Amino acid sequence: MRISASLSLVVLACAALASSATAPAAAKPAPKPSTKPAAKPAPITAATPPMGWNSWNFFAGKVTDKDIRGAADNLVATGMKDAGYVYVNIDDTWEGDRDADGVLHTNAKFPDMKALADYVHSKGLKIGIYSGPGNKTCGGYAASLGHEEQDAKMYADWGIDYLKYDECSFTGDVLEKQAPDDKAAQMRLMIAAYEKMGKALKSTGRPIVFSLCQYGWDAVWEWAPAIGGNLWRTTGDITPRWDRIYAILSQQDGLAKYAGPGHWNDPDMLEVGNGRLSIQENWSHFAMWAMLAAPLLAGNDLPNMKPEVKAILTNKDVIAIDQDRLGKQGTRAYSDGEVEVWTRHLSGGALAIAVLDAGDSRYSTHPFHLNLTKLGLHGPQTGKDLWTGKPITLTNNQPIELTSHNVLLVRIDAPK
Ligand code: GLA
Repeated sequence: MRISASLSLVVLACAALASSATAPAAAKPAPKPSTKPAAKPAPITAATPPMGWNSWNFFAGKVTDKDIRGAADNLVATGMKDAGYVYVNIDDTWEGDRDADGVLHTNAKFPDMKALADYVHSKGLKIGIYSGPGNKTCGGYAASLGHEEQDAKMYADWGIDYLKYDECSFTGDVLEKQAPDDKAAQMRLMIAAYEKMGKALKSTGRPIVFSLCQYGWDAVWEWAPAIGGNLWRTTGDITPRWDRIYAILSQQDGLAKYAGPGHWNDPDMLEVGNGRLSIQENWSHFAMWAMLAAPLLAGNDLPNMKPEVKAILTNKDVIAIDQDRLGKQGTRAYSDGEVEVWTRHLSGGALAIAVLDAGDSRYSTHPFHLNLTKLGLHGPQTGKDLWTGKPITLTNNQPIELTSHNVLLVRIDAPK
């Protein structure tokens, strides 16, 4: 990648351990140790951001049972499964009609959902599905209004592991009818609708990742975890264009405190490998989603994936940033001109630094000077450039050449 070879940068010192001596309380006798074995804590659903593949960004409304089986096969064959991509998520357009008992049937593209789920599971993968709180999905197919428990139970019976729940027609079906001209009342109805499905999923007893898709309305990050949300879209839809990807990235700053194990901000699915994104833009998109602790749901054409796209999606070092068990989302430390510097604190005191050139290239005539002091770092910092895989030393104010829309992504295990 494009930084001058002799680069060196610094990193940040973190970790201050404050120990406080607390005086033992005087009078009470110490409680007897319990003889009961300690209950094993239930595993956290989505302890790290969910990883997988979703049908929408490539297939949109054309997706079929065969495509989903093919995606499962390809996740295994390409090594993506081994890299952590486990969810195979069917987005919109699988739905058929409801019968007289309210049972929702699949359409002709998905003849047997249970058999499809079994197939995906047989590959050691998990399967996701899509619905919404309104009468219709965004694609105009049947959604779950009035059938939440029934649908949740059906998903669990099929063996579904993940539900994306998309607002869509709920606005017209319910909000505008029940609370015209009262936005606050509309938001309360919307939250209640998501809570209803959250409860319905929980009552199935099956761990099903609950993915809220309502584009970030009413500060969803403030209430989604309490109603059982494991992730929530923070914006409108992504497209495979740098301007859109960068706009979404910019909207994530300030949301870091809401993310953590079991509950994640979702800046939308990946477009890596789609459209006309340049290789630099693909690097930057993936690097920044990892810095954001974003769910990594690939959305590309798996059977025809180019080697350079596979190399990005399966870069274990970058994935390790995304999946870091601390679950602390990165933040923008500062920006200077069109270059942004983001940092992310990782487990074991490590630090990831991303230097993103969101504008034109920075040549040797006017390179970027990375200010390590602004990152709280002192002296040269040795780490790894995660795209070249090579060691790198960063020193304060070292000139860095960057190409347009490219990123320097560095992991420093022992920042000073
Ligand atoms: C909305 C969502 C997309 C996709 C489509 C499907 O636009 O935001 O991610 O699920 O609906 O219709």
